[in-house]
Amino acid sequence: MSELTDLIEAASAAPGKAGLLKAVIRAADDAVEPEDAVRWLAGLDPAPYDVDVRRFAADFLEDQGETPAALRWLAGDEPKLCLDRAHILLGAGRMGEAAEAYVAAITADPSLKDDELDAKLAPKQAFAGSNVVNLRGPRPAAVGGEDLGSPGNRLGREPKTFADVGGLDDVKKDISRKIIQPFKNPSLFSKFKRKAGGGVLLYGPPGCGKTMIARATAGEVGAAFFSVEIAEVLDMFIGQSEKRLASIFENARAAKPAVLFFDEIEALAARRRFGHSDNGASMVSTFLNEMDGVNATNDGILVLAATNTPWAIDNAFRRPGRFDRVIFIPPPDRDARLAILQMAMKDRPQETVNLEPIAQATSGFSGADLVGLIEEACDFAIEESLDSGEVAPIRQKHLSEATKSRKPTTLEWLSQARNYAKYSNEGGLYDDVTAFLEKHGK
Ligand SMILES: Nc1ncnc2c1ncn2[C@@H]1O[C@H](COP(=O)(O)OP(=O)(O)O)[C@@H](O)[C@H]1O
Ligand SMILES: [Mg+2]
Repeated sequence: MSELTDLIEAASAAPGKAGLLKAVIRAADDAVEPEDAVRWLAGLDPAPYDVDVRRFAADFLEDQGETPAALRWLAGDEPKLCLDRAHILLGAGRMGEAAEAYVAAITADPSLKDDELDAKLAPKQAFAGSNVVNLRGPRPAAVGGEDLGSPGNRLGREPKTFADVGGLDDVKKDISRKIIQPFKNPSLFSKFKRKAGGGVLLYGPPGCGKTMIARATAGEVGAAFFSVEIAEVLDMFIGQSEKRLASIFENARAAKPAVLFFDEIEALAARRRFGHSDNGASMVSTFLNEMDGVNATNDGILVLAATNTPWAIDNAFRRPGRFDRVIFIPPPDRDARLAILQMAMKDRPQETVNLEPIAQATSGFSGADLVGLIEEACDFAIEESLDSGEVAPIRQKHLSEATKSRKPTTLEWLSQARNYAKYSNEGGLYDDVTAFLEKHGK
């Protein structure tokens, strides 16, 4: 008894002295009645002590069943303190806080990754029915939340203007008139009592430039660009996705004027019948609240989203003030294909080639298909170069060979869309698809 009392007295007289504090704890650990030490520690200010001592004290306090006191000793941003805090919170069943502490720990110091915390805090089942179920565990540098504010996620080498996107002339005109002008001249619109806010949903077959046009739109309005993949936001812990999402909107508001782009939004907006868990429901309501500006105003924020599967988007997303403008990004027509082919050929060693017949022969090809075709032609030329030992340019023959070996990828999407247009053309969502199909005799 007396030894412990003496030690406590000595340690009280010398705050910050690691050796003395540890001696108290060791003595208390061995003591039959450690209560005095526990009470003393619980009331002591941790500030003068370094991280190791704090962890030591917290460990002891937790063993003694003094969870609140242990957590107090682990307060702060220091990654190891966060990690210990996560363990204690997990033990106490406080999952949301545990996840928050753990994410803070491994974001600051990835080497602190911990199997137990990973296993218990990672979402067991993200969005059943969508392809974003992800059990990989935490990814400290995920896109979203805090690091979204960093310049790395802003528009960099990406297409800056519409000129960087081939074809899509009507879409560019439409976006310019309906989105860019209102965004740039909000006062004109408010004079006419027209709200300039709300979001824009881009839809169409994969690989036809939705992502590109969204980036270029940001470039055209001269706004900061925040690109978010829903799957990245979901790759988080229970309760953390919502926080991430809210902080993404927060970051965009802080950087306004800003374009906030949600790619592959179907991962979030999946209709119930396409299956999503309760886990997703609160994400959806967080998202819609943010869009509605319930918690903050969204002036100066343009929200864009893209999807390959508009039929999987919940109607709630298309109410006024949300994604009330919908734009179809069609497969490139002949002229657009020619433009994309020309862009893809630029700056590559080549003979004089005629791209017209290639554009003619590639109906139904997406932009990505066309870029792939040119890359394959490149590979042929590279092979020849390796054989001959000197640079062999891309020749017409390479282009026709590459064309023959490839199939268009947009047709399946179009026939699927045609069915939806026929049987559930809600609010005329697919009118542009129907018009496109008629125009192209499909
Ligand atoms: N209109 C286009 N002009 C130039 N390249 C395009 C175009 N459409 C698609 N591509 C090429 O295909 C790739 C995929 O395009 P992306 O915008 O990601 O398609 P989506 O988002 O519609 O699936 C681009 O990186 C680009 O190389
Ligand atoms: Mg895309």
